[in-house]
Amino acid sequence: MQFRDRTRAAWPGAAGEDDMQIRTWHPDDLNAVAAINEAAVPAMNSLPAAELRRLLEIAAAGLVAEDAGEIAGFMICLAEGADYDSLNYHWFSQRYPSFAYVDRVAVAPSARGRGVGEALYEGLIAALAGSRPVLLCEVNQDPPNPGSLRFHRRLGFRTVGRQELEDGAKTVVMLEKELTVAASRLNRAAPAPTRSPRRSAGRR
Ligand SMILES: CC(C)(COP(=O)(O)OP(=O)(O)OC[C@H]1O[C@@H](n2cnc3c(N)ncnc32)[C@H](O)[C@@H]1OP(=O)(O)O)[C@@H](O)C(=O)NCCC(=O)NCCS
Repeated sequence: MQFRDRTRAAWPGAAGEDDMQIRTWHPDDLNAVAAINEAAVPAMNSLPAAELRRLLEIAAAGLVAEDAGEIAGFMICLAEGADYDSLNYHWFSQRYPSFAYVDRVAVAPSARGRGVGEALYEGLIAALAGSRPVLLCEVNQDPPNPGSLRFHRRLGFRTVGRQELEDGAKTVVMLEKELTVAASRLNRAAPAPTRSPRRSAGRR
């Protein structure tokens, strides 16, 4: 597989790019996605393909990195208000009214360290198009996942909390990365400007 220099952007629409593309998932991708998910255990929890599919169906963005016909990585991102029974998702839901929560991001072991994970985040930010003010995710502190922590810090995530799970057997670090909300969305949400009353010509 050929991968780009990871300093360059990689999502559909970017000009002059090589073979790799970040695109929305398709049901045909499920087996490859499930295999990459399994290869990422215990950094991520094991999930059968049917449950991954349900998550992708309720996701705000379900993305895959495809290189020369092979799935090299995937990402599942949920927005607020999703029907998702996860302690980490609930932790963030209680603290943020509007968000994009990365439930899982994983790259095939043979493709790691070549910019695929970063390209998935770039694709996510492009897909969100300024609709959410913040990206959220958690990374395992115990058992440790230093690679993912370094990866997320490098992308600008900062720690906003910690949570113990499974009766203290597991600790996760809660991370956030602020996003710039698109000006068009801000304009739409803002109250209509008050007009100064027009004077009619006759009153002059
Ligand atoms: C974490 C993961 C998604 C990163 O994707 P990737 O394509 O390998 O990462 P990229 O090539 O885009 O970025 C590489 C950077 O990430 C960090 N990084 C990624 N894996 C690392 C590792 N094993 N050890 C140290 N740093 C690592 C480094 O900062 C590295 O850049 P640097 O070497 O210049 O400092 C991928 O390694 C993976 O699938 N890991 C297993 C699953 C997982 O932990 N998912 C996250 C759950 S929270």
